[in-house]
Amino acid sequence: MEIVFLEEVDSTNDEAKRLPFKHGLCVVARKQRAGRGRRGRSWLSEAGKGLYASFILERLNLPIVSVAFGVAVLKTLKELDNRFYLKWPNDVYIEGKKVSGILVERTKDRLVVGVGINLSYGKEELQNLEKPATSLSAEGIEFNYNTLLKSLHKNVLELHARLKEGSFNPREFERECPLIGREVVVVRENERFRARALGIDTDGALVVERDGQITRLFSGEVSIRG
Ligand code: BTN
Repeated sequence: MEIVFLEEVDSTNDEAKRLPFKHGLCVVARKQRAGRGRRGRSWLSEAGKGLYASFILERLNLPIVSVAFGVAVLKTLKELDNRFYLKWPNDVYIEGKKVSGILVERTKDRLVVGVGINLSYGKEELQNLEKPATSLSAEGIEFNYNTLLKSLHKNVLELHARLKEGSFNPREFERECPLIGREVVVVRENERFRARALGIDTDGALVVERDGQITRLFSGEVSIRG
């Protein structure tokens, strides 16, 4: 498995778009100057405090791709601790706090899967973020950077191969996502409503029931009703 290690970069996703295409190549940096999150947000990217990795993969035009890679990241983290779970569309949480996020992007010739995992940020450093967040160290979880990266690399490649052959099943996500089957609050664009989360469909949409009507959500924020 080939890995390009960088001391510093703007964003590993951007570097993964600039490099010549090579399926499976992983770009990792110790620090990102402009780490990016979903929905135009930034991603905390201080030197050595997180795992910032992007994978160059053969392009797949399946809408479920971005949801599916959450399963690969979850599998990696569950090797360290069994309490991790998924939150649609592809965040990994532990005890109500986000520990990892994924930014999937496409160019003409490739899929770039960018994974950020908070490793050793202290609780105070994660306090002013938009969502409650944590890190492996803050949760008392021990890890080895190289082992974690190797396992992530393997799981991402395996998941890509399964997506390609059509053997990925959205149930794999549902099983690990406690939102499913619960009353949730959906926030998207200018609306906010209560609904029941029913499941994830083959396009990766979150299917919810609202006043007897079925709605498929492709983006937005969903949280368990407080
Ligand atoms: C999110 O939850 O909003 C997605 C966060 C994705 C962050 C990772 S860190 C490595 C890669 N490079 C980036 O600029 N973003 C992704």
